[in-house]
Amino acid sequence: MLVNIEQLNSAFESAVDNVLNAVAESGYAIIEQAIPLALINDLLLDCQHQQDQFVAAGIGRQQAQQLNSQIRKDKTLWFNGKGHAQQQYLELMGNIQQAVNRHFYLGLFDYECHYATYQQGDFYQKHLDAFKGRSNRVLTTVCYLNTPASGGELVIYDQTSPKPLAHVAPKAGTLVIFESERFPHEVLAAQSLRHSIAGWFRTNNSLAGMIDPAQ
Ligand code: OGA
Ligand code: MN
Repeated sequence: MLVNIEQLNSAFESAVDNVLNAVAESGYAIIEQAIPLALINDLLLDCQHQQDQFVAAGIGRQQAQQLNSQIRKDKTLWFNGKGHAQQQYLELMGNIQQAVNRHFYLGLFDYECHYATYQQGDFYQKHLDAFKGRSNRVLTTVCYLNTPASGGELVIYDQTSPKPLAHVAPKAGTLVIFESERFPHEVLAAQSLRHSIAGWFRTNNSLAGMIDPAQ
């Protein structure tokens, strides 16, 4: 179903406020019903229709990417920006980018994201999405496209304690956002198909004199 973009943007305003509070206070937020279900369903269909193009996810970037099925088992597909569902999702993420930049001068410069599908038994061990001074990923977003009956929880930690900060049961429409360098996290084994979108707001830092390439 096509969603009217004005309605979509206004339905997203309180989610953006939640994100601003998270950046100001704790560094992470778990926002239920952040993305309207009509759009979630369109994204889910888009994700399901392209399952044959999903590939085993890697760790690291481009050539340096090493497949490591010990660490993660999910399969991913980067957005190509085609179709209204992807475009509307990117528009909502653009709202976050603008608001965060306006309030915090973080200089978020772009957003990259991929679909991820976990089959039964798939997991992603505890990891950080970015390492201080070595990455230009500033904020991580995770959006769930379906609601598995159990399994596949996201567990978020801080770096000072083995005790989890939060357990998130994936639920269609929930958006999780956190500072990429600050929160180790893991995905517990899925017990049934689990579909999501993982994304990153980035700054335009140069790395070792080279502009970090896209994706
Ligand atoms: C990731 C990730 C969390 C999730 O893709 O880097 O940590 O809940 N995803 O899917
Ligand atoms: Mn991650």
